[in-house]
Amino acid sequence: PAAAEAALPPSNPGTPPMSDSPWSLLPAASANAEALDTLYIFFWILCGIAFVGMIGVQAYFMWKYRKPAHGHAKTSPLTHNGKLEFIWSAIPTFFFVILFAWGEIEYMKQVTPPPDALDVRVTGQKWSWTIEYPEVKGCSLTNDLYVPVGQPMRLTMTSMDVIHSFYLPAFRLKKDVVPGRYTVLWFEATKPGLYPLMCTEYCGDEHSSMVGRVHVVPQEEYGAVLAKACELKQGDTESTEDFGARVLTRGGCASCHTTDGTVKTGPSFKGLFGKTETLADGSTVTVDENYIRESILEPNAKIVSGFSPQMPSFAGRFDDKQIAALIAYIKAQK
Ligand code: CUA
Repeated sequence: PAAAEAALPPSNPGTPPMSDSPWSLLPAASANAEALDTLYIFFWILCGIAFVGMIGVQAYFMWKYRKPAHGHAKTSPLTHNGKLEFIWSAIPTFFFVILFAWGEIEYMKQVTPPPDALDVRVTGQKWSWTIEYPEVKGCSLTNDLYVPVGQPMRLTMTSMDVIHSFYLPAFRLKKDVVPGRYTVLWFEATKPGLYPLMCTEYCGDEHSSMVGRVHVVPQEEYGAVLAKACELKQGDTESTEDFGARVLTRGGCASCHTTDGTVKTGPSFKGLFGKTETLADGSTVTVDENYIRESILEPNAKIVSGFSPQMPSFAGRFDDKQIAALIAYIKAQK
């Protein structure tokens, strides 16, 4: 099971399932999404009726007043028609007011989290999402958000570096995540499943890797599922290397580092251990246990030439055992 988890792409929710609804392309998986889709469909039908009505009248008049076979008939000297003008102003106004009121009601609901909402803290950083659950002490997940069905969730979000944007297409929600302030988002998931979480604000090289997963689970399973997800200890029968692979997945390392030799924002782990690297100042360093440890805790102290200081520190996020496992895993990538 550990190997299977390690083999998972770090944070790729895959293609979202298609919706059953003929009106939208994405499944609607929150109370908010269903309400917004109803409004959207109403708007769509209204526009359709208006479009067909206007084009229909135009087509009819073009046909009715087409050029006669023998010369032009004299047109009527009409200047205006008060009754008609009132009708064609009043009907659209009536529908505009309905749209405004309906939109306002939905908007107010969307910005007012219910008092019984469960709190979650979200921190965006280049290029992953850190998700913390105050109810589970010390629980910090990368790119995985666990949610019980039918339970309102309140997300308090901030960024460690630049502006990101937290986007849940299946919940029809999107909000900027801004350094130096908190933004709040809430939702209530209605269907169990796995849904994509994306960053929709261009935030640098690996913006497109900044994707995560929302796991919507039944209420009664939530506590156990979250406790298991939060636990990051080496299993009894698990090798240190396999545990390292799990720590890597959890830590979001794969947003920037590969294990197949491809260079993304950071060096690839393939064949990295034991290599002699040249640093930006021209000095050299051998990639050993101490260098990897330092690079995790203080990433910008000794940067390999050709790379830029982009990595956040993982001090306080990985403990010694987890770091040792990461080193074992990196060492094994021959
Ligand atoms: Cu974070 Cu784009």
